[in-house]
This record gives sequence, C-alpha cells and structure tokens, in this order.
Amino acid sequence: MIDETVYKSRREAVLKQMKNKSAAILFAAPQKIRSNDTEYPYRQDSDFYYLTGFKEDNSALVLIKEEKAVKEILFVQKKDKTIELWTGKRLGKDDAKERFHVDKIHTIDKLDEKLKRLLLNKKRVYLDILSEDKRVLHVKELLKEILKNKAAKHTPQEFLHVRELSQSMRLLKSPAEIELIKKALSITKEAHHKAMSMKKAGIREYELQAMFEYEFKKNGAYSDAYTTIVAGGNSGNTLHYIENSELLKRGELILIDAGCEYEMYASDITRTIPVGGKFNKAQKEVYEIVLETQLRVIDAIRPGVKKSELQTIARESLCEGMIKLKILHGDVKELVKENKDKVYFPHGIGHWMGIDVHDQCPYKDKKGEELPFAEGMVLTIEPGLYLREDDENVPKKYRGIAVRIEDNILVTKEGCENLSFDIAKRVEEIESLYDS
Ligand code: GLY
Ligand code: MN
Ligand code: MN
Repeated sequence: MIDETVYKSRREAVLKQMKNKSAAILFAAPQKIRSNDTEYPYRQDSDFYYLTGFKEDNSALVLIKEEKAVKEILFVQKKDKTIELWTGKRLGKDDAKERFHVDKIHTIDKLDEKLKRLLLNKKRVYLDILSEDKRVLHVKELLKEILKNKAAKHTPQEFLHVRELSQSMRLLKSPAEIELIKKALSITKEAHHKAMSMKKAGIREYELQAMFEYEFKKNGAYSDAYTTIVAGGNSGNTLHYIENSELLKRGELILIDAGCEYEMYASDITRTIPVGGKFNKAQKEVYEIVLETQLRVIDAIRPGVKKSELQTIARESLCEGMIKLKILHGDVKELVKENKDKVYFPHGIGHWMGIDVHDQCPYKDKKGEELPFAEGMVLTIEPGLYLREDDENVPKKYRGIAVRIEDNILVTKEGCENLSFDIAKRVEEIESLYDS
C-alpha cells in the first residue's frame, strides 16, 4: 500500500515543475461503454491515480501555481443514495476532506463555476492536450469564455501537456511501488507455474486464459494488466494474438503472455511452454537461443546503459543463434545491418513497466536524446523468435515455432534485479513442473 502522504508529495513535485501563473487540470478516467448501456470494468487513469491514489470516476484534480502560493483542489462525486444503490458507495466530499491532504475539496458539479475563477489570469494551462475527452475540450471552451472576459489581466498564452509532469516522475519507482510490482509478480508466478504443471492437450486456449484470470482474482489481483495471450503453435507468430480460441495440441508449444495488475501496478510475463510437458529437439534449440539472448541482455543492464544498446545485443545474439540453426546465413554484424533478423524478431527488446504495463514514461530527454538507465527504473526484457509455418526460408523442423521469454527487471545501483527471477524458465525447470 502507498501512504496518502506520498500522493501529496507527488503533487508538490508536480507543482514545483509547473511554471508561474499556471493551472493544471487532470481528470479521472471516463467510464467506457462496452455496448449500449453496459460498461467495461472501470480502471482509473494512471496519472490521476499516481497523483491522488483515488479510484473513483467523475473526479478532477486542479493544481494552481502563483508566484507566492500554490493550491491543490480535488473535485469528487456528490454523495447520492439513489445512485449509490445502483453503482456502489462514493467517498463524498466530507470523507474526501479527511483522506486527501489537499487545500480544497468541491463536488464535481461545481467544476465549471470554480474553473472560471481559477483559470482567470493564468498565463499557462496544463491539460491533456492529446485527449479527445469531451471534458478536456470543454475546458478549452471555458477558456474561450474567459478570453472574452474583459476582467482578465492575463490570458492563457500556452497550453502544456499535463501528463509530461507526472510521467517523467513515474520513471523512477519508489520502494513501495517496487513492492507492489513484486506482489503482482508473485501472483502471476502462481498462475504461470500452474499452467506449466497442468495437462493442456485437448483444451482450448481460452480455458487456459480463464485459469490465469481465476488465479489472479483468487490471489487478490482484481484484473489482468492486459489481455492474456495464449497462443498454441503457429498462433504464437501473431504478436498480439488474443483470440485464444484454438485447441491446444500435444507436440506444440504455447506462448503465454500473461500478467496481473495488483493495486494498479502491472506485471508482464511471457513463458513459452510445451503442451505435453516436454520440448522436442527443434523446439528446444530455438528456445535455448531466446533464453541465452535474454540472459545476455539482462546481464548488460546497469545505470548508464541505454535500451538501444540492449536491442543491439539481442539482435546480434539472436542472429548468432539463427546462423547456427541455418535460418540465417552470413556474418552477424552484416545481417543486423541489413535488418535480416527483423522478420524473425520484429519488436523491441522491452518497455517501461509500472502503473501501465507499457508505462507512459519518456524514453528521451528534453533534447531528444535517449535516456540512459538509472536506479529505480523498471522495464521488461522480452526477446523472441517467430518462425512462421509458411516461411520457406526456415528449415522445415523449425517452422511454426514461436518463442518469447519475458521478465521484469529493476535497475539497481550496481546493475539490475530480475524481479521475476523465480518464475521457471529453464527447459529442465519447466519440464520438471509438468504434472503428468
Ligand atoms: N504483454 C504486452 C507486452 O509484452 O508488451
Ligand atoms: Mn511486455
Ligand atoms: Mn508481455
């Protein structure tokens, strides 16, 4: 759990970054319609959550920075017995006052009225400038009204992207955040180990997906962090395969990319395992190349290193392996230069991970230079080889094999820590977990 005072200090850090005579406005995530009048399960906006710890929809955070004073204002839903009967309890203004260490709490129906006053004489407004959300567009309308108001001494000359303020902070995880990721991983581990141990031949991919979702919930994780991929055989060559509808066949591999979200923090783990418990020779050969590559890449992670360097290590290592398997021919550096590996390894080596599975944190600094790793960053490392069944350039025995191995890595002072080190990934470990 993250202490309430942490959210306060995050807001203060945002206020420090804000320019003078400015206002920042961030909304809770809107409800998303699934069909007609039914909604998807609600999930709070990641930046809003990072700055408030508040999970209710229909809320807004407004931060004000003047030369000599700052102000934090939270807008929450009004308590309403009738609505609460249908959709559940709301915190309400009074309890919100107790819980949140902000300067003012108003109910959300007062937002327009308050904004008209709060935005008056502001030179800059931080908004989600990429958003099509009607509430964001409405703020722009309000600003037009203010512009027409002769009483305004200053008019907003600049719109700035509000998310940049929090997303640069989200790059470095605190010990409490790392604990939540570890907790998510411990739940995810149970599910992957169960998948390794259980009989799978003859069941449908979505049955395995259901097992993951059940294990996540049973162990206290309300949701998956992204839609689970369960891809038997050649389906693993479709990178975002989420149909999960085929029968699992003995003799094939299954690529399972599944991770739960625990208290708003993600885990993101891929394991590739044999349906029948044992890898055959060709599958093992491909698997060992991906595993060796993953270990080499993880070994290279330390402060100062950049993700692009890891990409090169991965590409060269995979090329080296593919030459051994006679999938590629020639010199490693030349093959990489000519992008010959891209058809078999078309994606990035990893991404930031945190409140979002693909954590929305910058990869470049303000000058556009790639950010080097620093202590406290968390990223995934997920090399893969994708050998399509219809690729005639690939020796027959390897066609239809897809392998990805993904772990979650914390950059430490001296190097890194594999936060998912205890989720089985060596061939012998995986095979020995199978309960035949
Ligand atoms: N599970 C999504 C990814 O690996 O990026
Ligand atoms: Mn990933
Ligand atoms: Mn993944």
